[in-house]
Amino acid sequence: MNNQAIGIFDSGVGGTSIWQEITIALPNENTIYLADSKYAPYGKRTKEEIIALSIKNTEKLLELNCKIIVVACNTATTNAIKILREQFDIPFIGIEPAIKPAAKNTETKKVGVLATQGTLSSQLFAKTSDLYASTIDVIEVVGTGLVELIEQGKIETQEMYSLLESYMRPMIKKNIDYLVLGCSHYPYLMPILKKILPSNIIIIDSGEAVARQTKVILSKRNILNKNLIQGSHIFHTNGDLHVLQKTLNTKNKSIEIKLLNF
Ligand code: DGL
Repeated sequence: MNNQAIGIFDSGVGGTSIWQEITIALPNENTIYLADSKYAPYGKRTKEEIIALSIKNTEKLLELNCKIIVVACNTATTNAIKILREQFDIPFIGIEPAIKPAAKNTETKKVGVLATQGTLSSQLFAKTSDLYASTIDVIEVVGTGLVELIEQGKIETQEMYSLLESYMRPMIKKNIDYLVLGCSHYPYLMPILKKILPSNIIIIDSGEAVARQTKVILSKRNILNKNLIQGSHIFHTNGDLHVLQKTLNTKNKSIEIKLLNF
């Protein structure tokens, strides 16, 4: 059991930002990553479609004998994790926009959230927002088109810069001091966002918190890999192998990338 892999899935390559954090927090764990790029973006899909895709990804990761599943996608977490937990007898770790720390620390009482339509319109996001951010102004912006460009490997492009600039404009105007990245694809946009945003604005994402929580749950269930050797990592995609390869920062890590239909 302890050598079984941590299964991770996302609508595409974005969840590799979470995978990076998991390998830092848990260097000797094996991982299997599913990039469901063929069906990206999830953010535009109905709740029913997101649930069906999340079930399909979970079944695949169970077939591959994973011991825990990290839903490295805010859209899938906010729309489907409840059902996944009801249907499958395996621990799930989800990811949600980190609105709690932003709301706690903001001085201007204005926080920006950049996420997909699917996440921002979910009941879970509304509940978290009500719980932690009811006394501050939350400026929500849908990142239309961003996931598509990342999935095409077009991060460092003028098109991306212009889109982000237009999404940040209303937030800067409202004087936010925190920007919450509510999509696991968006940490890859950090260098561009830093160029666009005034330097006082703090950008936060949930990657580290997800990795920490994964470690806590593995430890609680006594299924941490006790091997002292570095873990190995397998990536499956039903999209473009080259984009996945390009997105990964695989320095010093043993990885294998495969095309798989799922
Ligand atoms: N990485 C997914 C998320 O965190 C992207 C969603 C999409 O495919 O639209 O929300």
